[in-house]
Amino acid sequence: MFLREVRFVDLPNDSKHPFNLPVFRTAHHLNMNRFLTFFVGENGSGKSTLLEGIAIQAGFNPEGGSKGNQFVTASTESSLFQYLKLSWMPKVTEGFFFRAESFFNFASHIDAAAKEPFTPDPYFAYGGRSLHEQSHGESFLSLFTGRLSHRKPALYLLDEPEAALSPSRQLALLRVLHDHQKFGRSQFIIATHSPILLGYPGATLLSFDGGSIEPISYQETSHYIISKQFLNSPGTMLRELFKDE
Ligand SMILES: Nc1ncnc2c1ncn2[C@@H]1O[C@H](COP(=O)(O)OP(=O)(O)OP(=O)(O)O)[C@@H](O)[C@H]1O
Ligand SMILES: [Mg+2]
Repeated sequence: MFLREVRFVDLPNDSKHPFNLPVFRTAHHLNMNRFLTFFVGENGSGKSTLLEGIAIQAGFNPEGGSKGNQFVTASTESSLFQYLKLSWMPKVTEGFFFRAESFFNFASHIDAAAKEPFTPDPYFAYGGRSLHEQSHGESFLSLFTGRLSHRKPALYLLDEPEAALSPSRQLALLRVLHDHQKFGRSQFIIATHSPILLGYPGATLLSFDGGSIEPISYQETSHYIISKQFLNSPGTMLRELFKDE
């Protein structure tokens, strides 16, 4: 793998975002020794904040994209990246930072690039047409299949890639990941809530719950437990949920 370790160096003891988040008070270093690492945990636990910090340190646009996609619609990145040290072996410069939440802006950026003269088929890697002309889920999968190349060594950071994907397209994304693993030139770090994606065999799962970032097994995640309970017996769970106090 390329990105071996993320270290937190001299984190300020600050009551302001993001240093007030419990996971950035205790975290010292994270091992990334697998093809695929998942960030998993409750809403607001700090997964996107850390993924963004890693993306900036790796040289990607904080709003999403690769090194070549330098566009700014709103500068909202946190200062966490200044306190992250990445250990590479070897360093890779290729890759992509996918953010479901700002994908619209990325699609607009590609459309703007397409209007520049002499741009060689700007939509080549994105399903052959504007991402805005594809459905939300179609545009996500076009990017995952077309833009995330397994030809060159690359680091791919994906923040909630499942956001627009149907369960069957989530399975298709598992297949995309499997193909990357076979080629052996990619490393992925993925923040997700999907109990389907989290089932990828052999991945490292890092939990952001409980105030620190710790390895967890698939079956121990609340995503797995709650989904399983619900699907096994929706009636029981709904009765419990809707019960009057
Ligand atoms: N610019 C900001 N200023 C202040 N607080 C922020 C800012 N951005 C995020 N936060 C807070 O930091 C916390 C962590 O946010 P983050 O987006 O990293 O969570 P997350 O684990 O990715 O959650 P989710 O699963 O909902 O995507 C949240 O409580 C959020 O409200
Ligand atoms: Mg997030």
